[in-house]
Amino acid sequence: MPLDKYRAANLENWNDRVPIHWESDGYNIRQFIDDPEHISDVVQFDLDHEELGDVAGKSLLHLQCHIGHDTLSWARLGANVTGVDFSEAAILACNRLSAESGTPGEFVVADLYESPTVLPDRQFDIVYTGIGAICWLQDIKGWAKVVAHFLKPGGTFYILEIHPMVGSLSVDDHNGQLVLDWPYFESAGPQGYDERQSYTGTGEVAHTRQYNTPHGLGETIDALIQAGLILDFVHEHQLAPNKILPMHQPAGKGFWKMPDGRENDLPLMHSIKAHKPE
Ligand SMILES: C[S@@+](CC[C@H](N)C(=O)[O-])C[C@H]1O[C@@H](n2cnc3c(N)ncnc32)[C@H](O)[C@@H]1O
Repeated sequence: MPLDKYRAANLENWNDRVPIHWESDGYNIRQFIDDPEHISDVVQFDLDHEELGDVAGKSLLHLQCHIGHDTLSWARLGANVTGVDFSEAAILACNRLSAESGTPGEFVVADLYESPTVLPDRQFDIVYTGIGAICWLQDIKGWAKVVAHFLKPGGTFYILEIHPMVGSLSVDDHNGQLVLDWPYFESAGPQGYDERQSYTGTGEVAHTRQYNTPHGLGETIDALIQAGLILDFVHEHQLAPNKILPMHQPAGKGFWKMPDGRENDLPLMHSIKAHKPE
């Protein structure tokens, strides 16, 4: 099925980002290959905060897996991993990372909404996603149906994602104050913008156009409930996975925070754990 203009532009942009991210310090691919004990900062965050729990021996599907750094980190913790992404370049990078690091994983090219057709008759103990994933999707209810489709009865869904509140803020050029600049709710539809550099702050993409669709936290939670999942927790975190706002300061272990004081009273990520009834 042909992609609509928003997904087509996003796909060109994400294909361009793959070699840039592979070489970047932020993804630290060289260390992942050289050190069999190394796991990504994002997966380490989950361990430090005891969020997803033990994955050993479980089948894990990573939706929008990008270059597989997080996916294969779960594999290093004992999960049998499958990653899905609509970028063929990203899936090639996943397979290369798997081979060069000696970490097993299955990787498949599929648009999120078509992945149930591309991976027929498959269900998993865990469905995992996040860190800049759902903003690329236009229909959060359709996404939640895909999540529920892939879960075994009793299976666990877990997402650690950039908070939608941060996505709606910008910094005023004149006074440095945070201002509400972008929509918060999905009804606003895809929001187009151009950016030459990815969040790694390295390289330049040829295809600068990209479209994000906002999803309010309530919309995401409600979509999961409507898809039949039962919530275990919803957490809001004061750490960000990259320098999203110009005033963000390093917080250690690859994460970023707002400056101390009143401004720090802002959620930067959220995590949701839910399960499919038996
Ligand atoms: C920021 S990455 C998230 C992965 C992971 N957090 C990371 O940073 O490595 C976003 C991923 O979503 C993928 N993506 C965007 N739209 C998609 C769609 N409609 N279907 C499947 N994948 C999509 C992109 O190719 C990209 O790899």
